[in-house]
Amino acid sequence: MSDATTFPLTFEHVPSTSARESAEREAILADPGFGKHFTDHMVQIDWSVDAGWHEARVTPYGPLQLDPAASVLHYAQEIFEGLKAYRHADDSIWSFRPEANAARLRRSATRLALPELAEADFVESLRRLVSIDSAWVPSAPETSLYLRPFMIATEAFLGVRAAQKVGYYVIASPAGAYFATGVTPVSIWISDHYSRAGRGGMGAAKTGGNYASSLLPQAEAYEHGCAQVLFLDSEEQTYIEELGGMNVVLVYRDGTLVTPQSDSILEGITRDSVLELAEDRGHRVERRRVSLAEWRDGVASGDITEVFACGTAAVITPIAQLKGDGVEIGSADAAPGELTMSLRDELTDIQYGRRDDPHGWMTRLA
Ligand code: PLP
Ligand code: COI
Repeated sequence: MSDATTFPLTFEHVPSTSARESAEREAILADPGFGKHFTDHMVQIDWSVDAGWHEARVTPYGPLQLDPAASVLHYAQEIFEGLKAYRHADDSIWSFRPEANAARLRRSATRLALPELAEADFVESLRRLVSIDSAWVPSAPETSLYLRPFMIATEAFLGVRAAQKVGYYVIASPAGAYFATGVTPVSIWISDHYSRAGRGGMGAAKTGGNYASSLLPQAEAYEHGCAQVLFLDSEEQTYIEELGGMNVVLVYRDGTLVTPQSDSILEGITRDSVLELAEDRGHRVERRRVSLAEWRDGVASGDITEVFACGTAAVITPIAQLKGDGVEIGSADAAPGELTMSLRDELTDIQYGRRDDPHGWMTRLA
């Protein structure tokens, strides 16, 4: 679908009259958890076939008014993004590769027959919200403000076709570690009868339906004491794809990093960045099909020395063990891998402004 916006949008600001007092905000920031608390404001931009993107504004955070016939509620025409704002030592606030999230949102929009939002408007929407709610960006180590841009079909119409009215929003949530256990190695559950996405489906798009489909296998993972579910390819149930909300990387004894390649995987910005940092250090990187048998045999023979999960919310989290019906690979008390933790440090040092940013990945928001 075409982008009707020809000029950068101008944002109005309607200040909240019920912003939290600083004592209440500081209490939240002292122990933010993940995705539980939200800042005082939000961004909203409307789109229609006739007017394109219009009425960009920052408004008080609060419930949306949606017609019960809004097609997002019936046919799940929805996409989202996830990225973080980091407070640096000089109190400036930065995001990591927001143009890559803007590009992925456009790819998701194309797949879900939603309108594209220009990169400049996407980045400006983040800048506006973070500038107004800057006090909500925590400063404790490894904390951040998680930004959640999303787009939904708001048209009241029950016919099945692309909506002619759409809303784009950004909300923000102070964040600590995604896993309650922090950066300790996690166990992963193999889903052998549910798939996340199939060939020609929506697996490469960041759309709610993919997460809805992960909930039941994710519940199975919890029942088995695992933090995340691993999905295999839907046709042969042979090749590893990704976790419910993270990509996977395997590290070989010779220093090679291998990650699954497939049209049905979400292309993670964290994964792409970590692999680039590894290449900078001289590691070989392979993006190819990886079977579950390769993982099992590699761990058994000692050829695979580390495995980690990566994504915005989880950053880089070591995987200690993979479990499934009658399968157990690795052991739950395995120590975090050395390369895993040093790549994690390098990435977070760049994100928090503790070291140079040779790739120009950081964008100042406030
Ligand atoms: N895969 C899935 C299914 C995800 O939800 C995420 C998180 O956004 C990722 C991978 C990692 O993507 P990124 O590193 O861009 O956050
Ligand atoms: C993210 O890392 O941004 C995610 O989307 C993962 C999960 C919170 C859905």
